[in-house]
Amino acid sequence: MLNSTVNMRILLLLINIFAIHVFARLVISSGSSLERHGERGNHGKITTWPVNQDKNSVVYYCFANKESSEKLSRGVRNGWKTWYAKIGQPGVENGHTLKAIDSSEGKDNGYCWTDEKSKQWNSKVFGNETLVIKVYGDDAIGGESSVGFTPAEVDSSAGRHSMTMGAEASDWDFAHEWGHVFGLLHEHQRPDRDDYVNFTCENMYGYEESWKRAEKGKISKEDFCSKAVSSRPFGFQSDQFAKGAEFSLEIDGVHSKAYDWDSIMHYTSDIFGDPAKMEDHPKDASYFPLSRLDKAGDVARRIIPAAKSYPDLKVSDGDKEAIQAMYGWGG
Ligand SMILES: *[C@@H]1O[C@H](CO)[C@@H](O)[C@H](O)[C@H]1NC(C)=O
Ligand SMILES: *[C@@H]1O[C@H](CO)[C@@H](O)[C@H](O)[C@H]1NC(C)=O
Repeated sequence: MLNSTVNMRILLLLINIFAIHVFARLVISSGSSLERHGERGNHGKITTWPVNQDKNSVVYYCFANKESSEKLSRGVRNGWKTWYAKIGQPGVENGHTLKAIDSSEGKDNGYCWTDEKSKQWNSKVFGNETLVIKVYGDDAIGGESSVGFTPAEVDSSAGRHSMTMGAEASDWDFAHEWGHVFGLLHEHQRPDRDDYVNFTCENMYGYEESWKRAEKGKISKEDFCSKAVSSRPFGFQSDQFAKGAEFSLEIDGVHSKAYDWDSIMHYTSDIFGDPAKMEDHPKDASYFPLSRLDKAGDVARRIIPAAKSYPDLKVSDGDKEAIQAMYGWGG
């Protein structure tokens, strides 16, 4: 079962990685806007979506255009429903204020822009802080989102909150990107992650080819395996696995407390993996980019299984705690 899931994912990931080579500036991958956001969006600080008079932190969203709505509506909903199944509605009993609402729901508001090219905001849609959801490619998986909320004092541009999703993105991809929109970071990038997972850069797809080119460019292996500036120019995305300390973001309180392999914000073992290696050794974690260690210094590794689809897909207890910490009711 794992095998076929892995293969499916690999196939789509391959197409996706190819797209990255072609469109070097528009990189689509789970949570890849993290460091960009840290640099400009909100000055390195994650803020949460503000509460309204009803004490709800509502993430209104709209679709950039008809195609995006047609291709992504279902995934967007499944992703949010995955969260909702765990955290429930805002209120004292669930201990949080968070909810997500389609701005066109029950109304005929249309899409985010009246004219997408010239970025004319549709005034029927809520304020220009509304999350803009847009489709990318025909075969791409994964997604890219802004992290948390950027107040108008910092940036008041329309479309500053965005979720861009591959047309073939999975339910896990959507639920994961929702997590970024709420303000959550990658669990496997926690500063203490080396005690809990092994990251093997060499097992990433395209490692050898990209490293050859990077080496010629006088990049150190360490930088190539951890930094966006030292890997992305060579078609590699090792920064997806960089430890938290590499980021300028404030991460306290954004992660769940105990290390959480089950977090929706934790990559599964196969993500960004080299299909050739994983297909030949589907049960051997040492051929995957990320693997689970049961205790610090452990050499025995386990596969973090490929994700399920809604409704079997779950966010973890730790994910719920993180939402309660960030969006506490009356807190
Ligand atoms: C976005 O809305 C704010 C008011 O909430 C306004 O001040 C700002 O000019 C708007 N930005 C654009 C690009 O229209
Ligand atoms: C992961 O495991 C490999 C092989 O056992 C080892 O060489 C490497 O140092 C480990 N990486 C980390 C970050 O511990």
